[in-house]
Order: sequence, then structure tokens, then C-alpha cells
Amino acid sequence: MKLPIYLDYAATTPISPKSAKAICDTLSDPALLGNPSSSTHMYGWKAQEAVHAARARVASLFNAKARDVIFTSGATEANNLAIRGVCQGLSSPHIITSSVEHKAVLETCQHMARNGAELTILEPDENGIVTPESVASAIKGNTVLVSLMHVNNEVGSFNDIDAIGELISGINPNIVFHVDAAQSAGKVDIDIKSLAKIDIITFSAHKFYGPKGIGGLILSRFARKKVSSISFGGVQENSLRPGTLATHQIVGMGEAAAECKEKMSLDREHVLLLRQTLFNTLNECGVAFNTNVNQNLAYPGIVNMNIFGIEPDELMLQWSQVAVSSGSACNSQTKSDSYVLQSIRNGKDKNPSSADVRISFGRYTTREDVTEAVHHLTAALSAVSC
Ligand SMILES: Cc1ncc(COP(=O)(O)O)c(C=O)c1O
Repeated sequence: MKLPIYLDYAATTPISPKSAKAICDTLSDPALLGNPSSSTHMYGWKAQEAVHAARARVASLFNAKARDVIFTSGATEANNLAIRGVCQGLSSPHIITSSVEHKAVLETCQHMARNGAELTILEPDENGIVTPESVASAIKGNTVLVSLMHVNNEVGSFNDIDAIGELISGINPNIVFHVDAAQSAGKVDIDIKSLAKIDIITFSAHKFYGPKGIGGLILSRFARKKVSSISFGGVQENSLRPGTLATHQIVGMGEAAAECKEKMSLDREHVLLLRQTLFNTLNECGVAFNTNVNQNLAYPGIVNMNIFGIEPDELMLQWSQVAVSSGSACNSQTKSDSYVLQSIRNGKDKNPSSADVRISFGRYTTREDVTEAVHHLTAALSAVSC
């Protein structure tokens, strides 16, 4: 069976062969079978060494220290820990976030609001970007947390996290600035030391060619004092994330992180080439881009567009040779329009006989994949218009 062309890297990337091998090698090495927390025998020490090495590799991706890394099952859990961990125990803390965040942030903030927090949800501009000025003007005396994404998962828009962090620390350095970097980690250079103020970064390995089910947080020294545990039962990860560490997943993430660091500029050039190929070949189809596709405003590996003359279900049926998303992976199971695109369109409905599609590609996508995908799209559109 010929597999569809995979253009859904924002939902999850393929695992890199090196990361997959590191996982298999870890699982099959009898010396690594121990619990990394077992300190009474060699099996535990060996597993702990493997975890230490991987922790250093993950930290290095962000120019952070190994001790700043807390492992979790992924960005959803990491976002929960960041937001709930900062706010719990405080009386009426004020949180600032935006309407285009992933649900792992938005719904966690809404949960906090149901439990006494005050919540400000900022609207982005027409490109899906949350401006530093809008953040600055939302800050109040009781603001404890600003939680914003780096790269948007549906449209690829970049927030200027350096400028936002600088403004926040100028107004009140006691506010925690959390950045959900699930879509940018491993793809965009994030040097925590050179950024004005970022207190917490959250990420998932399966978005940067590592395994699913593992991710984490980078916590600054300041954030370590501000985040308290939301789960209990062990002292792992400084008691912030108790539970036995998954040695093989962590090693796989470490390998993927090291590879991303090494290949970051090559990966970026490749993705820019793929996006240019997409633009060049799309000429014949009736499409409009859902954001400004200027490379400085959006990560080039995510392109969100509105295709005219076809309804979403019909498009997915006719374009089945290609795996794309009609929203984010989490929203593609629902029929309604994406809440992110609704926010960006400022409440205006999209044309009903048109379909929004997110194409996302990366390291293992070829130019032929892109041209073939567009060729199938052209055929799908002419089949519908006949
Ligand atoms: C921006 C963003 N944050 C958080 C997540 C959640 O990541 P995970 O499902 O790996 O926990 C995603 C996944 O799509 C994402 O794109």
C-alpha cells in the first residue's frame, strides 16, 4: 500500500532514525534496566548516568543548565505544571494569556479562572501575533503569570518573546513569563541566556523528531522558587514531577535534541526551500493564506491556507493521497472552524464553500513530496468543479 504523503509535522514529526536507535539500544541493554532512582546497585547508577547525559543534551538545546530541566510526559503536562504550579495557593492571582494558545494552555488557564484566578485573554493581530504592547497594557498589580506560545501550532506565527519578556521584567520582574515552545523547540534557536526574560519554557520531544510521550520544562532559578508541585508521590525531578523516569524515552529525546542543535540551520534552509516550492506550485490553485507568510512573521514549516470552491470534508475525501490537517491535530476531530482562525479573522466567518488547511513539513519532506501533493490538490479541485 502506498502511504499518503505526510505533511502534518506540526501534529507530530517522524522520529529520527538516530533517536529511534537510541531508544531501542537503551531498551535492549541489560545494564540499563534499572530504575534511575535506585541508588543501591549498578543497574540504577547506569540508568541514572544515561538520564544525566540526556538531560545535559536537552538543556544544551536551550543553552540552559542540566539542573534546569524537568521531564514530563510532554508539553500538555508541562504546561499544566507551569500554570497551575505558579498559581496554586495564591489568592486571586491574575494570569495573562491569548486566545490563540494551544488548549493545553488555554483550558488550564480557564480551569484556574474557575478556581478563583483572574484571567485576561488577549486577542492577536491579523497575523496571529500577540503584540508586546497588548501584554504590557494588560499587566495589573496582581499579575503573577504571562503564558504565551513562541510559534503558533495552526498558523506558525511568531511571538516576539524577547521583547515581551523585556517589557514584563521592566514593569514587574516578579511576574513569571512562561513560553510554550512546543512548536519552536529544536527548530528555532532559543538561547535562554541571551533572551531578556523567560522563566519557563515547555516542550514535547515528538515535535522535534524525538519519541511521543516525553517532554518537559526548563525553569529559571527564579521560576524554581515560584512553581510548586501539582502531583505527589515521589522526589523525582525535584519533587515537581514525581514518578519513575522513562529512561529510554529520555535518552531518545536527548538524541533528538542533540541532532536538532547540530542540524538547526540546515533544517531551516530546507524548510524555507520546501515553502518556496509550495508557493511556486500553488499558483494554479485558488488559495489565500490565512496569515502573512513573510518568513519573519511565521515559522516557514507551517503554512495555513484557505482553499476556495471546496468544503472541508470534500477536500479531505478528494485529497486523501496527502496527510494534512484541517486545524490542529487536537481540533481536527471537531467539525467547527478552528478557534485560532476565528480569533485571527476577528469574528468574521470564513466563506462556507472553502476549506482551511494546515500544511506542515520538515527534515524528511522532499521537494517532490510538495509538488506531488499540490498536483493531487489540483486534481481534487478540478474533480469537484466538474
Ligand atoms: C503549541 C503547542 N502546545 C502544546 C502542545 C501539546 O503537546 P503534547 O500533545 O505533546 O503534550 C502542542 C501539540 O500540538 C502544541 O502545538
